[in-house]
Amino acid sequence: MEFKKRILVTGGAGFIGSHMVRLLVNTYSDYLVINFDKLTYAGNLENLKDIENKSNYVFFQGDVSSEKDVNEVFKTHQISDVIHLAAESHVDRSIESPMEFVQTNVLGTVNLLQHAKNFWEDKGKHVFHHVSTDEVYGSLGNTGLFTEKTPYDPRSPYSSSKASSDHFVMAFYHTYGLSIKMSNCSNNYGSHHFPEKLIPLMIHNICNNKDLPVYGKGDNIRDWLWVEDHARAINEIFHHGRVGQSYNVGGLNEWTNLDLVEYLCDLMDKKLNRNIGASRKLIRFVKDRAGHDQRYAIDASKLKEELNWSPSVTFEEGLEKTVDWYLNNEEWINQVTSGDYQKYYSKHYNNR
Ligand code: NAD
Ligand code: DAU
Repeated sequence: MEFKKRILVTGGAGFIGSHMVRLLVNTYSDYLVINFDKLTYAGNLENLKDIENKSNYVFFQGDVSSEKDVNEVFKTHQISDVIHLAAESHVDRSIESPMEFVQTNVLGTVNLLQHAKNFWEDKGKHVFHHVSTDEVYGSLGNTGLFTEKTPYDPRSPYSSSKASSDHFVMAFYHTYGLSIKMSNCSNNYGSHHFPEKLIPLMIHNICNNKDLPVYGKGDNIRDWLWVEDHARAINEIFHHGRVGQSYNVGGLNEWTNLDLVEYLCDLMDKKLNRNIGASRKLIRFVKDRAGHDQRYAIDASKLKEELNWSPSVTFEEGLEKTVDWYLNNEEWINQVTSGDYQKYYSKHYNNR
């Protein structure tokens, strides 16, 4: 079959990437979606079991920072567009081992940009969409929102590596005329989220009656968005966003970590038929994250006004769907928490 587009989705076996791949495969039968993923601890092909046999989906195992792998996938599949999500994504791990973040997030992005630039003759016909984060803007005080004009001020090794990759993406637009688009999103939550991040970790630990480690006083604020709404936003920007522009993505949904954990505890108590208040007893205040950003909050009005995007669910609805998914997918949880997971996390939390 002659496909209209042949989209390379990097990091498609991860949390957001798998939702992106599913959306594209199910919506556009005339696109070939090539999921390019190294399958690190965070990548899992189980995430895509429901679409793996579709005729417009292909998996290619490779490393974004490998010239050989990227060259091979561009040539084999005649890539027409890129949606780049592959990254080392966890702030705590970046504090422990920053070099892996430089390798994948910085060098990997530049390697992809180089191949796209060299492979695409008529640059106006192809889109390179870079998926980034609000963390590049740094940390907010009690008021204000991040806009696309907020100066970059990354604080962690993770956010510094993402900020660096964003600058390279923009440099390839200005210098070589690559048709880039970029999105900077707030914290995502939803199904298939690896249980090292706050929400899935808390759900997993509540289920198992394990401690719920809250960093510092639990007063840091995050702005949460349902992952499927993020995937919808990327789809809109990829198809209809302006070339050379970045778009902030977020749902005006700020929570302190402690309020969120307590809300989850009560929701889980109901779902698990426990006495309300039982799970809150598992909360433990532990040593704070080094350089912990105080508050993130996104102004997504550009995306709303230009592309008519808005979130499709409230946080309460999205969180309930998420909790239900975890409760109904014990096998997935068992699979991703086998191997090194227990060892890594006992060490991580024993040090706090
Ligand atoms: P994730 O850690 O769940 O998934 C990352 C995926 O990338 C995994 O499948 C992994 O195997 C793959 N990968 C890692 N290194 C690779 C390499 N060298 N080559 C090829 N594949 C590699 O991450 P996520 O939370 O789904 O985030 C996806 C993207 O979205 C990242 O770029 C992240 O910075 C960005 N982002 C995430 C959030 C969030 O809340 N999770 C918010 C905004 C932006
Ligand atoms: O804002 C977007 C970013 O959101 C993405 O770019 C990152 O890839 C993603 O990991 C996420 O980063 P955070 O550091 O905000 O997410 P995390 O789930 O790790 O932590 C959320 C908040 O909860 C943060 O303030 C730290 C706190 N926390 C986290 C963990 C894992 C705890 O209090 N206890 C925990 O055990």
